[in-house]
Amino acid sequence: MDVEGLKSRLAEANQEHLMKYWDQLSDSEKSQLYNELNHLDFKEINGFFKSAMEDLASASEKLDDLLEPLPKEVCGRVVNTQQEDLLQYDVDGLTEIGESRVAVLLLAGGQGTRLGVPYPKGMYNVGLPSGKTLYQLQAERLLKLQRLGEAVTGSSCKIPWYIMTSEHTKQATLDFFKKNQYFGLQEEDVVLFEQSLLPCIGFDGKIILEKPHKVALAPDGNGGLYRALHKSGVLKNMEARGIKYVHVYCVDNILVKMADPIFIGFCMSKGANCGAKVVEKAFPTEAVGVVCKVEGKYQVVEYSEITLKTAEKRDANGRLMFNAGNICNHFFTLDFLKFVSEPTQEKQLKHHVAKKKIPYVSEEDSKVTLKPDSPNGIKMEKFVFDVFHFATDRSFAVWEVIREDEFAPLKNADTADKDTPTTCRRSLLNLHHRYLLAAGAEFVDKDGNLIPHIPSQKKGEEKGSGDRQKGEDEAMFVESEISPLVSYAGEGLQKLVEGRKFTTPVHLSQDFTMDEPEIVEGEW
Ligand code: UD1
Repeated sequence: MDVEGLKSRLAEANQEHLMKYWDQLSDSEKSQLYNELNHLDFKEINGFFKSAMEDLASASEKLDDLLEPLPKEVCGRVVNTQQEDLLQYDVDGLTEIGESRVAVLLLAGGQGTRLGVPYPKGMYNVGLPSGKTLYQLQAERLLKLQRLGEAVTGSSCKIPWYIMTSEHTKQATLDFFKKNQYFGLQEEDVVLFEQSLLPCIGFDGKIILEKPHKVALAPDGNGGLYRALHKSGVLKNMEARGIKYVHVYCVDNILVKMADPIFIGFCMSKGANCGAKVVEKAFPTEAVGVVCKVEGKYQVVEYSEITLKTAEKRDANGRLMFNAGNICNHFFTLDFLKFVSEPTQEKQLKHHVAKKKIPYVSEEDSKVTLKPDSPNGIKMEKFVFDVFHFATDRSFAVWEVIREDEFAPLKNADTADKDTPTTCRRSLLNLHHRYLLAAGAEFVDKDGNLIPHIPSQKKGEEKGSGDRQKGEDEAMFVESEISPLVSYAGEGLQKLVEGRKFTTPVHLSQDFTMDEPEIVEGEW
């Protein structure tokens, strides 16, 4: 250990307080702190802090005048696209999948603070009849999609799954996949890599110590992806496999259509190298970013950075002017990813600042870590969509999908009204029920009475969602679950269910250990 060298680097960067407890540390604590500090580039971090604070000072007010809605030419909407065009996008996407030219990349390095569980969000079980976790649903969608791709091209294919973790999520994620035999996927097709961490910094510019031998560190945001791609060798791995298109998505949307062939086909039809899937924003203060243009460049203005005045703006038809709600589903060509991950481009991505309550070592007793009541510093994060800046009108595409078919994120615990395990579970079961109805299934209740396709209001339905009791909620909906191994997005169900009467609830159950689906009726 070159302790003196480290001390002088710290002194130069005005961060010498980080070794203030050095003489009180045990040998193992000394080596832990030394390793942590030795990896940090203090000059760079001080630079990040300076520009992040400058941006914070000037931020949203300035944005108001600069936001422009998306030009029509780059946009497409499921609801007003002809059926034959949708089919063509689907076939084009499936052909690329069948040729093993498509990869998926999961952003799973977040700390999931709002949900409040001590393990990675992908391991969460929202209480489906199958008990499947978000990771299992995603793995099974990939397995099924591989089969659909193979059916189009007639040859075997793979969709490699790259998973970006952070120090907080890596080991648990790896252990979980191993324990579950990768849910039937090949181990070599599930590639974990790690994003970097950045220190949390007090408003005075001093890096915060969480313990005498530990710096307060946090993942560098989902835009840490590009740095991680550059450092990890993942881009080379993709290249070696012949990947051309990458679908990047976030972990928490229970309805996510991974490697969605229609989205891929649409982006290809636009000649795009970069694209975003969106839903129409539900109301002005909804916590989703909006895809738009700022000073002529494509951008997502995050919900934390837009002013209410701009969020509430409406067009002549009364629709929100900035209504392209980002659902964190992005399309990139591998060439584009390679370009933006090069340091010249990556360094241009700014850090966004979040003021946070960061635990710190007590001045009075260094054995105690204090949790502040109000923000005492900042976390700096890059955002995955900031590379949209590098896209042009001819290379960008925005695909608007139907919210209830594709977007139900898990953000909060069940104590909240929105984006909870309950709302996610219900969204998925409801979607699957609609798939079965569309495939020609009929449903009867326990007494054999036919259930109308659109159930009439039951007691409690007229209440606001926040007033409902849990049991009441469950009773209101007719629900079904379909294993992704049976159907990826509603296809192939007709032969199983058309003209049949099922006693609700229905579960078309299958996991990778089963060859055929099993239909369980009348009970969860
Ligand atoms: C994100 C989007 C927001 C969108 C919303 C939809 C970003 C920056 N914001 O917001 O525009 O409307 O989803 O649900 O994308 N993650 C990492 N590393 C990190 C931080 C996060 O991999 O350092 C991952 C998370 O694990 C998650 C994803 O990025 O899979 C999104 O992170 P989250 O904090 O949940 O974003 P939101 O604030 O919900």
